[in-house]
Amino acid sequence: MTIMKTVTTPTETETRQTFESQTSNTTSTVDKTENETETENENENHDPTRETGNRQLERHMTKTYRAALIGCSRMGAFIDNEVAGNASVALPYSHAAGYEACPRTDLIAGSDVRQDVLDRFGERYGVAQAHRYIDYRALLSTERPEIVSIATQPEQRAEIILDAVEAGVRALYVEKPLCASVNEAYRIRDAVRANSVALNMGTNRRWQPGFHAMRTAIDGGAIGKLRTIVVYATGTLFNTTSHWFDICQYLAGDATPVWAHAWLPGSEHLVVDDTVTDEPNASGAYGTLTGVTVHFLQSPRPNDIEAIGDNGAITAWGAGTSFTMRTRPASGGAWTDAQFPYYANTSSTLHIIEDLVGALDRGDDITAGGIDVAVTNTELIFGFIESFRANGSLLMMPPKGSTARFHRSGFKARTPTFAT
Ligand SMILES: NC(=O)c1ccc[n+]([C@@H]2O[C@H](COP(=O)([O-])OP(=O)(O)OC[C@H]3O[C@@H](n4cnc5c(N)ncnc54)[C@H](O)[C@@H]3O)[C@@H](O)[C@H]2O)c1
Repeated sequence: MTIMKTVTTPTETETRQTFESQTSNTTSTVDKTENETETENENENHDPTRETGNRQLERHMTKTYRAALIGCSRMGAFIDNEVAGNASVALPYSHAAGYEACPRTDLIAGSDVRQDVLDRFGERYGVAQAHRYIDYRALLSTERPEIVSIATQPEQRAEIILDAVEAGVRALYVEKPLCASVNEAYRIRDAVRANSVALNMGTNRRWQPGFHAMRTAIDGGAIGKLRTIVVYATGTLFNTTSHWFDICQYLAGDATPVWAHAWLPGSEHLVVDDTVTDEPNASGAYGTLTGVTVHFLQSPRPNDIEAIGDNGAITAWGAGTSFTMRTRPASGGAWTDAQFPYYANTSSTLHIIEDLVGALDRGDDITAGGIDVAVTNTELIFGFIESFRANGSLLMMPPKGSTARFHRSGFKARTPTFAT
């Protein structure tokens, strides 16, 4: 299978090298010994120009990485049966289907606390009984996977991530939202950084070629200076708005959020003291250090997002099903329809996995998503909650000292669609 790897943006390309460019690079560090590489300091570990030596890279090119899945339900294993035919989605979409399709990964084990889901996962993906675990810690210690996917609910995520890092896992593909509180996000960041673990979060739109084309057009000046982004149907804060926060971050060049204000319309009763007891609806806004303002509406207009600049706008319709652009010359005049660049819609899940494989090949933790993006996403979620708790007042970001935590006492996992 041919996988499009160039999902990084020009900005990201300045800070990250693709696997292809590294494999063809024969400069400076080619003579470096493995010992020299091991003694490099932490800063150099994050240096995108760092090479671990071409001999190592050649050896890695034929290596297949051992992947395991924790949480074998919908996004973990079976969601392709639900989203097949959805125009914005290119299959494979579930983590397991992604590992199955990726020539560089072997799905060797799975864990789920629901025996029936675990068994259906094993049968579907050819994972034998001996490699199916109710207890994910037993999976980690027995199977020693190099890549671990965590597709549980956010309340369980931090503990599992921290256990996986402790067990020596080298790469993590974790579902969104990252976890259930800001403090959990910071603990995850500390552990991942300290152990140089590559991490990508499953905010798939960042990895969709259409949104990559949208950001490339914005970065290239097609609509002039980006001023405003509007999300028309924000949805629920943890499950859905986490997707929107991420794509807004991405389109605005991952610029640091500096303020936020929000309300939880119709969901005010769900915040009880420090506990967010169920998924709240969210509406609000945040602003970035670069002066972009992002607005989150709860309108009937489904899943559209618009980026507006001084000289035009790009609209992504239906979560990236199609894109349209209107522009005017920098000298002024009326906005007219313009051609949105061509792109081929390929699997975002595969791009996430391939990006982690690239980090493993290089022996670093540099990804095109990453822990910082995932932490900012969590800060935005809780920035909205803390602003609401302060009667919708403007809150400086990040929401320092946030004590809120997401915890749904009555949550019941859905039965996945095992077959179409
Ligand atoms: N990226 C996307 O487009 C997308 C789409 C759907 C869902 N998601 C996200 O994926 C995550 C999972 O969603 P879902 O709909 O598949 O949820 P789900 O509740 O159906 O599945 C979670 C699974 O995790 C299992 N689990 C819970 N605790 C566990 C533990 N300690 N060890 C092993 N297994 C455990 C549950 O039994 C369940 O089968 C959520 O965070 C959701 O927001 C993302």
